[in-house]
Amino acid sequence: MTLLDLASNDYLGLSRNKKLFKKAIKFMDEYTIKSPKASMLVNGYHPIHRIFEREMAEEHGFEEGLVVGSGFLANIALIESLVRKGDRLFMDEEYHASGVMASQLLGDRVVIFKHNDVEDLKAKLEAHPAKRQIIAVEGVYSMGGDLCAKGIFTLAEAYKAMMIVDEAHSAGVVGLKLLGIFEYYGIKINERHIKMGTLGKAYGSYGAYILASEIVISFLVNRAKPIIYSTAPSVFDIALAYVNMKHIRKNSSSYNQKILARQMLVRREFDMPCPSLIVPMLMPSNAQTQLVQEGLMEQGYLVGAIRQPTVSQAMMRVILNLEIPLPKIRHVLALIKHNTELSSIIR
Ligand SMILES: Cc1ncc(COP(=O)(O)O)c(C=O)c1O
Repeated sequence: MTLLDLASNDYLGLSRNKKLFKKAIKFMDEYTIKSPKASMLVNGYHPIHRIFEREMAEEHGFEEGLVVGSGFLANIALIESLVRKGDRLFMDEEYHASGVMASQLLGDRVVIFKHNDVEDLKAKLEAHPAKRQIIAVEGVYSMGGDLCAKGIFTLAEAYKAMMIVDEAHSAGVVGLKLLGIFEYYGIKINERHIKMGTLGKAYGSYGAYILASEIVISFLVNRAKPIIYSTAPSVFDIALAYVNMKHIRKNSSSYNQKILARQMLVRREFDMPCPSLIVPMLMPSNAQTQLVQEGLMEQGYLVGAIRQPTVSQAMMRVILNLEIPLPKIRHVLALIKHNTELSSIIR
């Protein structure tokens, strides 16, 4: 049986779009050299990388852009290279594992604040003055699907702190033009803002990008180890992301309508907040999560079963993929809600 995919982060369903795939191949064909295999600092930097970086930077209102092999590497690059002696990094406790891993290289230069808690962050910014204060947050949190509180952006302004904003789950999902959390809140980009995101989710490809001021990007190019000592990102994946990005731009209003319809369904019929395309449905135990997942598979649905210790409470993580019709989404959510009945059917 083919399962309906409500588990992967292919929010807009672009990874299945053959027309866009063929367009990316055509775009690649314009170049004689397809894919130099070396670091970007040797000869791995391809014109397609540059075209993509410029287009992303302009669209999102940043001075410069940089392609990176993956979102995982982008977080390591940023955090390991940017937080220098005398600086302090203030990281949300639910920041992605890649950022947490990189922060472990920094010793006492890292301060963790309570998830999305503006007051706790304020107290910690006060208690830990530094040459530069750098705040790391996600636009949409990957497990809870909640948005970064706007108050954190306001606080960063007040303290003249830099911000690293991981838009892995918000770019392509929130904002009128689907540009992410900065656009959603109407925040004017300044030289202290850094945005990173992956191309492996809404953008339907693979790879990642960092957008920032010219100074920050040129610092990263010369200092960040995952950029210097790693083969340049796959040219085809960047070409595909480029084609997909332009497609999202052209179709943002129809995508927005579909997103809104799904969010309304969750709010109205299931009485849950739904600001993104991730719906976390809490489960009583890891074992129950697995049972529910198996039951859903029998009904033709694939949903992520996220268990402890990855999250503090086990959950079914439902992705409201825009390719999946509303009645099917309603059906899955209702099945999970009544998970006890479902697990008894399995037994
Ligand atoms: C919030 C967040 N940041 C970064 C990443 C890593 O991105 P990539 O898959 O491109 O390595 C992920 C997940 O993949 C993520 O959920």
